[in-house]
Amino acid sequence: MELVKLLNCLADGAYHSGVELGEAQGVTRTAVWKALGKLEEMGVSLESTKGKGYRIKGGLDLLDRDFILAHITELSLPVRSLFLLQSIDSTNSYLMTESHNADPDDYIVCMAERQTAGRGRRGRIWHSPYAKNLYISLSFNLPGGVESLDGLSLALGVAVANCLSARGVQDIGLKWPNDIWVNDKKLAGILVELKGEAETGWKVVAGLGLNVLMSGDEEDEIDQPWTSISLTMTEGSLKRSQWAALLLESLIDTIGRYKKGGLKCLLGEWQKYDILCNKTVGIVGGDESGVCKGVDDRGRLLIDYDGVIKVINAGEVSVRPDESSN
Ligand code: BTN
Repeated sequence: MELVKLLNCLADGAYHSGVELGEAQGVTRTAVWKALGKLEEMGVSLESTKGKGYRIKGGLDLLDRDFILAHITELSLPVRSLFLLQSIDSTNSYLMTESHNADPDDYIVCMAERQTAGRGRRGRIWHSPYAKNLYISLSFNLPGGVESLDGLSLALGVAVANCLSARGVQDIGLKWPNDIWVNDKKLAGILVELKGEAETGWKVVAGLGLNVLMSGDEEDEIDQPWTSISLTMTEGSLKRSQWAALLLESLIDTIGRYKKGGLKCLLGEWQKYDILCNKTVGIVGGDESGVCKGVDDRGRLLIDYDGVIKVINAGEVSVRPDESSN
């Protein structure tokens, strides 16, 4: 039995009897029962009530590939392939191994409803429950030398921050190099990985994880303060597919600007969101603290240690404000 069909049926949040679910797809009740078990294994929480059947309380906001494709087509975004997967270890890993950009200017996109081994920066796990958040990766070519990679991380953060704040998410901040925070809680993160060298630059895979609907105590395995769009926006939020389409648009547009003008042309936007600037910061693993002085035009963090400015490279360190536990 196709799990996607079953999910689409249950997505409305209403009760469906085992007989109805079986008949709709021409399978036995036993097959339905087994498929429901698989959904539970995937982390979909089902309710069953005698005499009524099964339901997913509150329904599901599933990703709609046709909707996202229509947006891509309408704006003529240079996306060559769009993979929408139900479950995958990691959308970044999928693009690292599965895809190749034939044209230097095109993008390959992979999204998933859940990740079983979502990866964050610095070896962290990225919590990726089914149909709650967004897990989006893009593979593309980036011209330039090593320095073009440092700035890229920041440019991607700006793309996400611009998109979210244009649609009403308040108090967005960027924490170097590219974490997206709202009021001292992490809303989204970006993982940039290198797939290899292109003829005149790099083959890059960049993945965005954005918490959209996550709300419950069930997420207490996350080891840092977090929030989601549904927790920060009491009204006016969008469907996950709408967010996905708008984020893709903003990411592709901003990568295009970055390819043409480098980080210089995005620095003003970065500074608008910079939450570390003029704060006392420390490098994780080190005792010293200094005052953050923003970033240079390669995207490297500048820290003032008693009058001596040190330049911190994006690839090597993580910086946290010493006022908070993260
Ligand atoms: C961070 O630690 O802040 C980066 C998180 C990046 C998570 C995203 S989800 C989509 C893509 N696939 C992954 O395995 N990781 C990235």
